[in-house]
Amino acid sequence: MKFEVLTIFPEVIECYLKHGVVGRALNKGIAEVKVYNLRDFTTDRHRKVDDYPYGGGAGMVMQIEPFYNALRHIKSDGIPRKVILLSPQGRRFSQRIAKEFYKEEKTLTLICGRYEGIDERIKAFVDEEISIGDYVLSGGELAALVIIDSVVRLIPGALGDELSAEEDSFMKGFLDYPHYTRPEEFEGMRVPDILLSGDHKKIALWRKKEALRNTLKNRPDLLKNLSAEDMKILKELC
Ligand code: ADE
Repeated sequence: MKFEVLTIFPEVIECYLKHGVVGRALNKGIAEVKVYNLRDFTTDRHRKVDDYPYGGGAGMVMQIEPFYNALRHIKSDGIPRKVILLSPQGRRFSQRIAKEFYKEEKTLTLICGRYEGIDERIKAFVDEEISIGDYVLSGGELAALVIIDSVVRLIPGALGDELSAEEDSFMKGFLDYPHYTRPEEFEGMRVPDILLSGDHKKIALWRKKEALRNTLKNRPDLLKNLSAEDMKILKELC
């Protein structure tokens, strides 16, 4: 899977991509990220990417020409791609959309805005607008990294243990169960005995119960289409 990022802060993206799961996936060649510096697609001496807003008001607006020039350059390879504009006005990103991108797209082009946003006419050149949540960031770079990270995790071979993506929160429709590692006791808090019992059936049931407990507490909205078995466990918790 390939990602292309258009930004005025390429170093922000590149730094994150060196580390952890995504860094390893890139080194293994199972994912690829190309970062484009928007200023390389300006035509003036000062490499200017923004200007005052028509109609007045505070802040600056990003001009369309550098984005247009960059997209033309990128698209000249003729490869099909989905062009995504990161903005708080977009469709809200979720694990379901991460899966959808992983299954349906080979190349995602992520456009990062800054300042008050990008000239509205950019919309003529994008396929979809995506928001990562109901808050306003200073730019699209963090949102682009959220999308890259969550989609790369889904690629077979990206995670050390193939099962771990399946175990992630939201993959099964509810939140994750608690995890523990050594020491067995810390400041008087003990690891639950069941996790030391070696009884894998009982451990699986305990994890399911705790996942449901977490979901009930923090995200009851997720507990809609439970199986009869999960419903029974949930009822025991209430
Ligand atoms: N740019 C600024 N805020 C954003 C958000 N919430 N999601 C995606 N891109 C953004």
